[in-house]
Amino acid sequence: MNEKFLNQIINGNSYELIKQLPDKSVDLIVTDPPYELANKTVSKGFFSTHLNNLYEDFANANVMGGLQSEMLDEFMRVMKKPNIYIWCNKKQIPEYLNYFVVDHKCSFEIMVWIKSNPMPLYGRNYLNDKEFCLYFRKGIPLTTTYDTGKTYWITQTNKVDKQKYGHPTVKPEFIIDMLIKNSSKEGDVILDCFLGSGTTAACAKKLKRTYIGFELNQEFTQRAIERINLIN
Ligand SMILES: C[S@@+](CC[C@H](N)C(=O)[O-])C[C@H]1O[C@@H](n2cnc3c(N)ncnc32)[C@H](O)[C@@H]1O
Repeated sequence: MNEKFLNQIINGNSYELIKQLPDKSVDLIVTDPPYELANKTVSKGFFSTHLNNLYEDFANANVMGGLQSEMLDEFMRVMKKPNIYIWCNKKQIPEYLNYFVVDHKCSFEIMVWIKSNPMPLYGRNYLNDKEFCLYFRKGIPLTTTYDTGKTYWITQTNKVDKQKYGHPTVKPEFIIDMLIKNSSKEGDVILDCFLGSGTTAACAKKLKRTYIGFELNQEFTQRAIERINLIN
């Protein structure tokens, strides 16, 4: 592995940056790419302003538009063995299952983060009250226990983390900690190509793993570096 990437947060386009990582150089990927969401404007209803602001935040933060499929091939190339957690919304599940399970014969888990206080919607739709984390592996033993082997988490929406780390889709550290502990050991190299506020790298550093983080947005990159520097 090129030393310049180890324990670094790099500002740039991960579709380009990942090409510089050697084949079979990463032990685990934990990543949270843009979700497959269409930008929409809600014109009426009590919560329309709130929803429109949310969509504007998402668009500004580059967290919409999905993942280009070429990245999946890059993920497979850089991993020593398939070992990847990938956050997504329901629309992305078929593509990821098809790629990793049907094409690459990985075993899988579908994990769910449930929000107990989702934003109300008005009529004719189910609530937007969960996010999915898919896990794909092949030839990787887990170190789960009865407590850490569960495949769902229920919390309130994490408004506090969003404010603290200045990112609209920050993931809870306790979930990422658990995933990293279950699927890697100290010293392992953990990659996140869509680092956002730095959650994966922060958890990896806390747990004595080696991290590599790529983030397109300069401001988020800076915040992630500051967050990680605070961890001893
Ligand atoms: C869903 S967020 C990740 C949030 C993260 N899990 C956290 O806890 O803060 C996705 C991130 O990917 C970044 N991103 C989008 N396209 C990218 C690209 N081509 N290269 C690198 N980062 C990208 C966005 O700027 C955004 O911060």
